[in-house]
Amino acid sequence: MTVLLEVDGLSKRFGGLAAVKDLSFSVPRGRIAGLIGPNGAGKTTAFNVISGVLPATSGHVRFDGAEVTGMRPSAIVKRGLARTFQQTTTYATDSVEENIRNAMLTRVQGSGPQRLMLRKTGLLDSAQASSEVERILQVVGMQAWREAPAGTLAYGLQKKLGIAIALATSPAMLLMDEPAAGLNHEECRELTRLLRRLRDEQGLTILLVEHHMAIVMEICERIVVLVQGEKIAEGTPEELRDNPAVVEAYLGAPDHAHA
Ligand SMILES: Nc1ncnc2c1ncn2[C@@H]1O[C@H](COP(=O)(O)OP(=O)(O)O)[C@@H](O)[C@H]1O
Ligand SMILES: [Mg+2]
Repeated sequence: MTVLLEVDGLSKRFGGLAAVKDLSFSVPRGRIAGLIGPNGAGKTTAFNVISGVLPATSGHVRFDGAEVTGMRPSAIVKRGLARTFQQTTTYATDSVEENIRNAMLTRVQGSGPQRLMLRKTGLLDSAQASSEVERILQVVGMQAWREAPAGTLAYGLQKKLGIAIALATSPAMLLMDEPAAGLNHEECRELTRLLRRLRDEQGLTILLVEHHMAIVMEICERIVVLVQGEKIAEGTPEELRDNPAVVEAYLGAPDHAHA
């Protein structure tokens, strides 16, 4: 069991507010881990620091054996650590397929002019690129929507496209921030199946932030519980279900009863 992501003593302060305090945990390759906690616990901040969007105040992030603390987000994506956002980030007027192709370029080169060059030199239209687009459309089940402008997609499909865009960067690991938010029951079931397929068939490692407890308890092998920036517990779903501190701090909280 090799560790793919290691978070070691990570802290992030916003002025006087310690949003993440001395957080340590690791995620083994090929596993789905959960990061849960009430609103404001620091989950998204932890993702922002791990993915290089925000600098750490202190501590380390190691990915695939290398220190990635302080690297630019694009460099971290190229190393195989991709994230999906709470809000979908797509080019609304571009088609589903164009959005996926555009994201594939981020692993080749980052900047706008370089992408334009690649478009001109036809790398984007190569047979290899096309079969990769097909593979991704198939994995997320969006073949029927390939021509649709991203902005016209129903909400659940926009969320799927967000996952497809992350997959287009050829990741070894996905950080997913509330992928089930706003999805209906059937879409949640579908998302659960997709995450399991990503792990079992694509060999992906996943760190999942999710309020929807049924999904977390069903698919996460290990769960880290954050409260006010601090890890208060870590364990298997079974262990946490019976942990009084977790039940009190989070699972039993009435405002999460819907989740
Ligand atoms: N860019 C920011 N500047 C200042 N405070 C922030 C910023 N981002 C998050 N926070 C604060 O950090 C805390 C953790 O927020 P967040 O990471 O979004 O929590 P979660 O995702 O667990 O709901 C909250 O108190 C939030 O208001
Ligand atoms: Mg959040």
